[in-house]
Amino acid sequence: MGCELSKLAGTKSRNQAGNDGSSPPPPPPAATDPRLPLTARQKFTVIASWKAVSRALEPTGIYMFIRLFEENAELLNMFTKFRELKTKEQQSTSMELAEHAKTVMSTLDEGIKSLDDMDAFLTYLHEVGASHTKIPGFNRQYFWKIEKPFLDAVERTLEDRYSENVENIYKLTIKFIIETLIDGFDKAQSEKAKS
Ligand code: HEM
Repeated sequence: MGCELSKLAGTKSRNQAGNDGSSPPPPPPAATDPRLPLTARQKFTVIASWKAVSRALEPTGIYMFIRLFEENAELLNMFTKFRELKTKEQQSTSMELAEHAKTVMSTLDEGIKSLDDMDAFLTYLHEVGASHTKIPGFNRQYFWKIEKPFLDAVERTLEDRYSENVENIYKLTIKFIIETLIDGFDKAQSEKAKS
């Protein structure tokens, strides 16, 4: 269809395509909030592709946690509700783990859906990060442990929709989410230290 249109438009379109200076330059990309490390197009892509993950939060979350515990068995001890689930099989059928997986995925869901509103995004994820200061034995660096499991789980859910471009954008997005959680964690901890 684009071809038909450019044929109809004739020489004008050729001039634009060639950008020989006789036509106005293309408009600049839409401005995004400077705090967001994504372009407008990347933000659009992640919000659009997330819709498929959003419809499968629980299975995606369960897979994410199984991957997390596969690589970091010691972290399981922090989860009082399912620390006894040692095998993948036990983990994948546990209602407690499924419940927690859904909670965490809903947080990510809320976060990604609010990428259009940086104030809402930051406030929300700072709060979730801060809540982890109450978990005995939790270390701020643990947030990074979920990065790879998250990407693996999204890839598994999106299948062939997980193109190289989409993968790249999810990498930027989860990095930004984790940095925001850690900021919230750090802020809460320094508040505690003051009082
Ligand atoms: C994407 C990153 C993460 C998000 C969005 C997130 C979110 C949450 C949320 C919303 C809760 C509250 C659950 C509730 O109130 O029932 C929670 C609890 C918890 N989180 Fe995270 N979390 C993340 C990463 C991690 C990681 C990497 C660990 C461990 C290494 C962890 C350990 C815990 C623990 C131990 C609890 C308490 C669970 C319980 O006993 O009910 N979180 N998390």
